[in-house]
Amino acid sequence: MSGADVQAPVLACTGLEVRFGGVVALDGVDFPVARGSITALIGPNGAGKTTLLNAVTGLVRVAGGAITLNGADITALPPHRRAAAGVVRTFQNLETFSNMSVLENVMTGAHRVIRYPLAHALFKTPLYFRRERACRDHAMAQLDFVGLAHLADAPATELAYGSLRLMEIARALAAQPELLLLDEPAAGLNMKETRTLGAIIRRIRDERGVTVALVEHDMDLIMDISDAITVLNFGRELAHGTPAEIQRNPAVVAAYLGEDEAEDAAPGAGKAAQGGGR
Ligand SMILES: Nc1ncnc2c1ncn2[C@@H]1O[C@H](COP(=O)(O)OP(=O)(O)OP(=O)(O)O)[C@@H](O)[C@H]1O
Ligand SMILES: [Mg+2]
Repeated sequence: MSGADVQAPVLACTGLEVRFGGVVALDGVDFPVARGSITALIGPNGAGKTTLLNAVTGLVRVAGGAITLNGADITALPPHRRAAAGVVRTFQNLETFSNMSVLENVMTGAHRVIRYPLAHALFKTPLYFRRERACRDHAMAQLDFVGLAHLADAPATELAYGSLRLMEIARALAAQPELLLLDEPAAGLNMKETRTLGAIIRRIRDERGVTVALVEHDMDLIMDISDAITVLNFGRELAHGTPAEIQRNPAVVAAYLGEDEAEDAAPGAGKAAQGGGR
């Protein structure tokens, strides 16, 4: 814990409501993310976790509530303005450019921060080459950070699944986020890859100073790296607290295991939440 709980939140979602036709995906949800924290959003399938990340990045419209970034209301901003303000994400389903190399994929993230006027790209001016070189070096540094530098020139299609997940994180880091949102970064990873991922997420916070909010089903990972956890169930907040508080919260245990089993598990509720599965 980095003392983040005493600081103003980077992100504050209050009373968020999102509806898809008759489905109420978010029903008055609060989600505060303290600066310098690793904050988790967990809950059963369909609870509204991805929808909340989509609301924060502007991919879905909210019917009610507010989203503030560093105290400024961003609820009505289009997605690109939120990205420009430092909110960057990865997706639950991989979003890879399969016709590009690994490095080129990461460079698409770097282009947000290293820019040149279009005319320079058209006429291939010296400025264009300098900026492209800077973009390449910057992308390479992100690949190095996640341990994929040796695969920079490989076609993205040749990467194993675990490496693709890390490539996505490198691409998000290339955009120099202030707040990094990760949607199920450990999905499909084996235990060793998940441990490596956990260490990388910690280093993103500790070495880069980036605040991280992640959605995840892997409870070992969540309990290991999170400072704070919000639990969603059927679009509502079920609980908010530290990993230890969440592990012994009977309502959380019940949501994951069902009422009957929760009763058996209640004394040592820690194991219960691991039933989240994938
Ligand atoms: N674009 C959409 N159109 C209609 N319904 C949607 C849409 N996106 C999500 N939903 C519905 O909203 C609810 C919340 O979905 P969401 O994807 O946010 O859940 P989740 O917590 O991310 O689940 P999972 O753990 O399976 O990824 C679900 O009932 C889902 O079917
Ligand atoms: Mg989801």
